[in-house]
Amino acid sequence: MENFVYDIPTKYYFGRNQIQHLPELLAPFGRRILLTYGGGSIKRSGLYDQVKALLADFTIVELGGIDPNPRIESVRQGVALCKEHQLDAILAVGGGSTIDCSKVIAAGAKYDGDAWDLVKDSSLIHDALPLVDILTLAATGTEMNRGAVITNFATKDKLGTGAYVMYPAASICDPTYTFTVPANQTAAGTADTMSHTFEIYFQHNDQAFISDRLAEGVLKCCIHYCPIALKEPDNYEARANLLWASTVGLNGLTSLGRPGTWTCHAIEHLLSAYYDITHAVGLAILTPRWMNYVLDDSTVDRFAMYAHQVWDIPQQADKMGMAKEAIQKTYDFLESIGLPMTLTEVGIDSTYFAEMGQRVAPRLVNSYKPLDPDDVVAILNACLEPGVE
Ligand code: NZQ
Ligand code: ZN
Repeated sequence: MENFVYDIPTKYYFGRNQIQHLPELLAPFGRRILLTYGGGSIKRSGLYDQVKALLADFTIVELGGIDPNPRIESVRQGVALCKEHQLDAILAVGGGSTIDCSKVIAAGAKYDGDAWDLVKDSSLIHDALPLVDILTLAATGTEMNRGAVITNFATKDKLGTGAYVMYPAASICDPTYTFTVPANQTAAGTADTMSHTFEIYFQHNDQAFISDRLAEGVLKCCIHYCPIALKEPDNYEARANLLWASTVGLNGLTSLGRPGTWTCHAIEHLLSAYYDITHAVGLAILTPRWMNYVLDDSTVDRFAMYAHQVWDIPQQADKMGMAKEAIQKTYDFLESIGLPMTLTEVGIDSTYFAEMGQRVAPRLVNSYKPLDPDDVVAILNACLEPGVE
């Protein structure tokens, strides 16, 4: 196991009615708040009214309309509001897009230049306004990590940034707020959680036993509970387990003692930046093809472990056979929860594959299996047709 420091300053409030703590969580920072949210789901669910009632004693400036794949333009708007109204803190209510956008607004409010600088170069982030969030969608883990992903469609960039000061001060994670998440986003959120886990699980360090078993637990949780949540959207047990899985999937726990290798996310961020597709739909399409592409003698042991531990495939001498069966099961599961499984279905053809390969390959030199531009193109081409072969 490699050395690690585990230091997460986020107070994590999980469960029903944790929203009652909201005023006491914000008050120490001041009474002038930027309230951020997305396209209206929190108004339809009643959460918006609840927040406004709880914060009746606060001065609230609002930034709504934050899009999925949040834009740098929304960040700039938020930064301008924070500076103009001299706000003390940010309250983000929504999914990963709203929270990510708010993290960069928080940092931008303490920065003199353009917020896009902070996305391109996280070393410029030294300070941020305090951020509290109320999560409404189980997927990204942003509620307990320091990262944020922002899109600039003008330059076709979707980039991750992050800093210690961008950890939420507190996150309110009430599974009942996810009851209204539609089926496609429930499935996508599950695929995102699974992908985060895969990106960390598939690496060459075999000594992080606890992290491996945690990762397998997260995956089994997704496989078990997502179909239940799809059938019964207000099943608390299913929603609660999916929510906690999404947090554990990317709050650092599964990467303690070994690095992640992050391949599919790097490629997917280009797909989103060029075509504005749902992040996890891109991941669901890419992941089984990537698995199939990197399966060889150097990776087969770990894929066989995945097969046995996650899919209960019996141990056999033929590890390659176990691995292939597990990859097929991964594909079948993602398809069974209703996700599109080809790029063709989401309107993407091969026009930009070569360009994407050139742009992303420099970031894949330390991947589980290092990939060059031609490898990336081969994986993307495999995503055009159904199936994993
Ligand atoms: O905008 P509203 O109206 O709120 O609707 C949203 C949106 O249309 C809707 N939704 C959210 N909660 C709902 C709900 N609808 C009904 N009921 C609810 N309770 O769902 C749609 C998608 O929301 P979004 O916030 O975009 O989803 P998600 O949480 O999956 O976030 C995706 C973004 O996070 C980034 C992705 O790249 C993408 O931009 N990621 C952030 C990460 C991080 N910070 O650590 C890691 C991830 O790998 C990921 O890259
Ligand atoms: Zn993701």
